[in-house]
Amino acid sequence: MPENTITATEASPAEKPQPTPPKYPDYLPTRPDGYAPAINLPLFEADEPGLRADPSKPDITKAATSIVNITPRIGTELHGVQLSQLSPAGLDEVALLAAERGVLVFRDQDFADIGPDRQLELVRHYGPLHKHPTMGYPKGTGPEFHVVYADETVGTLRDLLGPRASYDLWHVDQTFTPNVPSTTVFWVLEGPTNGGGDTAFSSLQHAYEALSPAFRDTLKNLDIFHTSASVGEIARVGQERALKEAVNAVHPLVIEHPVTKKPVLFVNPTIGRNIEGFHSTESAHLLSFLHDHIRSLDFTCRVRWAPGTVVVWDQRTAAHSAVPDFAQGDRRHMVRIIPYGSEPKAAFPRRAREEGD
Ligand code: SIN
Repeated sequence: MPENTITATEASPAEKPQPTPPKYPDYLPTRPDGYAPAINLPLFEADEPGLRADPSKPDITKAATSIVNITPRIGTELHGVQLSQLSPAGLDEVALLAAERGVLVFRDQDFADIGPDRQLELVRHYGPLHKHPTMGYPKGTGPEFHVVYADETVGTLRDLLGPRASYDLWHVDQTFTPNVPSTTVFWVLEGPTNGGGDTAFSSLQHAYEALSPAFRDTLKNLDIFHTSASVGEIARVGQERALKEAVNAVHPLVIEHPVTKKPVLFVNPTIGRNIEGFHSTESAHLLSFLHDHIRSLDFTCRVRWAPGTVVVWDQRTAAHSAVPDFAQGDRRHMVRIIPYGSEPKAAFPRRAREEGD
């Protein structure tokens, strides 16, 4: 059959089904000011709301109709708790539970419909808000909103990253400043109609605990260089500009979680790029092992989005990856707001280093 012959099963362009309009047009991503350089937020003394919380979490437990762990190591799904109705003490409890469980999945929320001002106000409870340099935000708001959007015209993360064998992109958001993201809120406006588009989370605390004592002993003394010239930003603005405008920070590789006080393997495959003091081959080798390690099914869970789902996770103890496996052309419309928490501190006192050339 000649290549340009139209078969009986192919629709002509006029017969193609028209895409449905977005359910939340006011939250479509816009960027009228164009891409900005990453902001180098100076170090500040952060409040950690999880430290103020009543450990018995009375507000959450009173309101919840069910609280079920996704796995013993990471993730808890809650029904009956309406985030928008929680008192400040209840929001503190959410921060504590997120620190303990890594990721919380709140079902049947009204959060998507309470409006941008109340959404910002709720997340500001956890700290000053990150302003994203390149992601789009709803018209009339600002870069504190990070809209994650895919449809038949803008494409998906797959299109942004180009041809690859797979599209896992495990990371912790925006860790290139002295203070790093903390209790983050992420919600769905519209999910892909043909399924897929989950978000996966990995417990960096349990990833650390799984390592041998001898190996942990080596990692405890290391620092890692984080840069805003990340895989995502290079894809958006190009390598030259991303490197020229880079904001960088050095953090310990094993941090003490500021709320749980547990040691955490603070790796970040897209942003934490080099082990300080290592030759580049040594660094690449170690990081390649650690990046594979944190993806293990032993420490991870997948969150399936449903209308009304809001996820709250603690970026100091959980890495995440989108799962961009949904059908090309399907709409997936999500929004995230990130507050900053404390500066990461080393989990253990440092050993003196051998002097050399
Ligand atoms: C992200 O990588 O921050 C977004 C995750 C997602 O789209 O599921």
